[in-house]
Amino acid sequence: MLLLLLRAASARAYSTVFFLSPSASYLTRWPVAWRTGEGVIDWQMGRWRQAPRPLGLLLAAILVGIVGRCDGGISSAYVRKAEKTIDMPLDSDVFRVPPGYNAPQQVHITQGDLDGTAMIISWVTEDEPGSSEVLYGTDENNLDLSAEGIYTRYKFYNYTSGYIHHCTISNLKHDTKYYYAIGIGDAIRKFWFISPPEVGPDVPYTFGLIGDLGQSYDSNITLAHYESNPNAQAVLFLGDLSYADKYPYHDNVRWDTWGRFVERNAAYQPWIWTAGNHEIDYAPELSIIHQSFQGETGIDDTLYQSLQGETIQFKPYTHRYWTPFESSGSTEPYWYSIKMASAHIIVVASYSAYGRYSPQFKWLEAELPKVNRSLTPWLIVLMHAPWYNSYNYHYMEGESMRVMYESWFLKYKVDVVFAGHVHAYERSYRVSNIAYNIVNGKCDPVPDESAPVYITVGDGGNLEGLATNMTQPQPSYSAFRESSFGHAIFEIKNRTHAYYTWHRNDDGNAVAADSMWFYNRYWQTAETTSAV
Ligand SMILES: *[C@@H]1O[C@H](CO)[C@@H](O)[C@H](O)[C@H]1NC(C)=O
Ligand SMILES: *[C@@H]1O[C@H](CO)[C@@H](O)[C@H](O)[C@H]1NC(C)=O
Ligand SMILES: *[C@@H]1O[C@H](CO)[C@@H](O)[C@H](O)[C@H]1NC(C)=O
Ligand SMILES: *[C@@H]1O[C@H](CO)[C@@H](O)[C@H](O)[C@H]1NC(C)=O
Ligand SMILES: *[C@@H]1O[C@H](CO)[C@@H](O)[C@H](O)[C@H]1NC(C)=O
Ligand SMILES: [Fe+2]
Repeated sequence: MLLLLLRAASARAYSTVFFLSPSASYLTRWPVAWRTGEGVIDWQMGRWRQAPRPLGLLLAAILVGIVGRCDGGISSAYVRKAEKTIDMPLDSDVFRVPPGYNAPQQVHITQGDLDGTAMIISWVTEDEPGSSEVLYGTDENNLDLSAEGIYTRYKFYNYTSGYIHHCTISNLKHDTKYYYAIGIGDAIRKFWFISPPEVGPDVPYTFGLIGDLGQSYDSNITLAHYESNPNAQAVLFLGDLSYADKYPYHDNVRWDTWGRFVERNAAYQPWIWTAGNHEIDYAPELSIIHQSFQGETGIDDTLYQSLQGETIQFKPYTHRYWTPFESSGSTEPYWYSIKMASAHIIVVASYSAYGRYSPQFKWLEAELPKVNRSLTPWLIVLMHAPWYNSYNYHYMEGESMRVMYESWFLKYKVDVVFAGHVHAYERSYRVSNIAYNIVNGKCDPVPDESAPVYITVGDGGNLEGLATNMTQPQPSYSAFRESSFGHAIFEIKNRTHAYYTWHRNDDGNAVAADSMWFYNRYWQTAETTSAV
């Protein structure tokens, strides 16, 4: 079935889309002290170097054979958002600074260990360091426990961040409501969260999927719709947070506004982070020396080097958003795993080296066999750049990683892969494409019941606007695609069943524009997938 309604004349504003070469994979180095030390941490963290480009031209030549096929699923013509997407102005209500001197702001939490007995509490104080202590407890009026965190700062071009606090609270009881308080003096702020349930094979849990959120009016609607779901317990965030890098000098004030914007949810529910291309913040052109001394000669080499621009990748992201990467044996914050309820969640990094021999490759190779489907039946992978994407945006950017890892995903029967990056919605059938060996010509995706479903939810609503241009005809692997903003919900019922829905913004949270029952790949392979 193929529904193709071409909307010809509408002059839809779609601003620049970044095309980031998949071979631009880097390897960052991270001093151990950054995560283990106490007190102030220097903002010059880590050196970086460029990794070898392991995939390069070879993979660029591998084409998904979709040309000439026309037996795909549904291409919804419902482009709900035709007008330009703009960021909320700095004086918007959602960006308001909380009252009180040096009040904690941009509060957010994420799971702090492998199985959900720890939580990382993060916040920013603008005027002075203040306190990095978190008071917490299960009785709102008696926060009898406390933990001491650390704070860090960074500079980005001519921006200097506030004091970014991170405090891990541990030994939490499962499935328990905890209250916590941060800040001092007249600016103490209180929040709460419910700790994840004990990991087990039939533990139900409801995840929200949000990607490419940004801070536009549409982003605000996406977040509000997600929030209106009374069952959602944690957000699996698919990368591209603030889009601060779209502003001159990557104006990091927009990282601060984003932190204040999402606080209303991220302070109460763990958000599990995936790094996207808008987190890279690699800007060698932002050189103070180029600005001030352009054309002059005789500048000292060392000075020149030290002022060569913003070349430490992921600098704002890694200072602000921590991940519990060490507890899953990862050596970098960009790829890691956690267990939540009955799910084993693996986060992979589209913008870190993933070729053979790279740290991420070795980690994932060791990680997949560790997944115990008797304990965590659901195997979910998060990444930023999708492998199966039939829009004309970021086309095939995920291809080289697909070639590296797809056969593993089949071998270990991954249930579902969630990605962002493309600012639209798409869901695939269960397909694989691993038969190609350079000479056999077998490069078409084929139906495969061992394969995950690939879902792109890059439709959070950021200022770049919607991806509306789809490849035609719809490839056979694509079950449903639509250019609308929205979010998704993955609702695990037990070891065999999970219910998935996608909610386009215009209908609110109550209406599911696309939905599907997931039958677990390990526990219920006999049943096939069925779109409802
Ligand atoms: C940073 O530099 C830009 C360009 O010179 C300027 O517009 C902006 O106000 C500066 N920001 C700060 C915080 O100094
Ligand atoms: C953002 O959404 C919230 C919740 O719906 C609303 O209260 C607020 O006014 C919105 N702000 C803007 C700038 O749209
Ligand atoms: C997998 O999990 C089950 C259920 O918790 C447990 O009995 C079993 O020992 C685990 N297997 C391994 C290899 O750890
Ligand atoms: C859609 O993308 C294709 C491939 O990049 C391009 O040839 C075509 O002109 C685009 N169509 C529109 C309406 O932008
Ligand atoms: C698992 O959940 C599904 C959907 O709610 C239900 O139909 C099924 O009976 C459940 N299985 C068991 C063993 O409880
Ligand atoms: Fe992206």
